[in-house]
Amino acid sequence: MPPLLTPFFHAPTFTWTWVVEDPATHAAAIVDPALDYDPKSGQVGTLLADAVIAHVHARGLAVQWILETHAHADHLTAAQYLKQQLGGTVAIGAGIVAVQRHFAGVFNLGGDFATDGSQFDHRFVDGERFRIGALDVEVLATPGHTPDSLSYRVGDALFIGDTLFAPDVGSARCDFPGGDAAALWASIQRILALPGDTRICLAHDYPPGGREPRAIVPLQEMRTRNLHVVGQDGDGYVAMRTARDATLAAPHLLWPSLQVNIRAGHLPPPEANGRAYLKVPLAGGW
Ligand SMILES: [Fe+2]
Repeated sequence: MPPLLTPFFHAPTFTWTWVVEDPATHAAAIVDPALDYDPKSGQVGTLLADAVIAHVHARGLAVQWILETHAHADHLTAAQYLKQQLGGTVAIGAGIVAVQRHFAGVFNLGGDFATDGSQFDHRFVDGERFRIGALDVEVLATPGHTPDSLSYRVGDALFIGDTLFAPDVGSARCDFPGGDAAALWASIQRILALPGDTRICLAHDYPPGGREPRAIVPLQEMRTRNLHVVGQDGDGYVAMRTARDATLAAPHLLWPSLQVNIRAGHLPPPEANGRAYLKVPLAGGW
């Protein structure tokens, strides 16, 4: 039986959070859960995560996994909140170690911050398999946007993280630390070699022209309509991607996201006054 898929759109960050359900056992996984965060006030919130929890309770699901496709730079993960409320194993790609090492330096986290991925309950490697109830899941390393990027293949569904976006949007940027446009092109080819009737589950949608956000794109449509893929080759893609990335601003929630996401969704530890803080590394000055 194919997995039952329920997407939740986090409008402030254009993120799709997914609940994947095994119809036979009602076991479930949550993919890329978004936490609410208002950078103006520092307010953290759980509106979207609470909608996921309500869905899980309404369907009578047992959450076995909370899966990250990568350490996101555009939203904070709700993984630890959901684990606290629902249980489940929080997992990400083994490449998280490289991301942690880099940003531990950027944020000057010191020896208290482990850069071995141990904040996550499990770190996947390419080709690893696991189960959601009776559903078999295959892990595909799909680096390029980040070194830790994974895709999860669950039956006919494929969670591709930030690799390809909707056909009229294109593909993910590759200018973050450890990003590599040639690696992303190779990952895209790996994705597009899967069966054409695969349901591609997007991690984001940035709908142009006022259309509704799309959550699922048939793989065959991605092959034939994605504007960064059609008529393109590897060299052309790298040139296009590199030129385009040079024009992109830093993501709105870059610094808050990474400080929470390299901690697997734990907030930074409170300081002596009992409050937790997020840092902004300054550039320039006088
Ligand atoms: Fe991302």
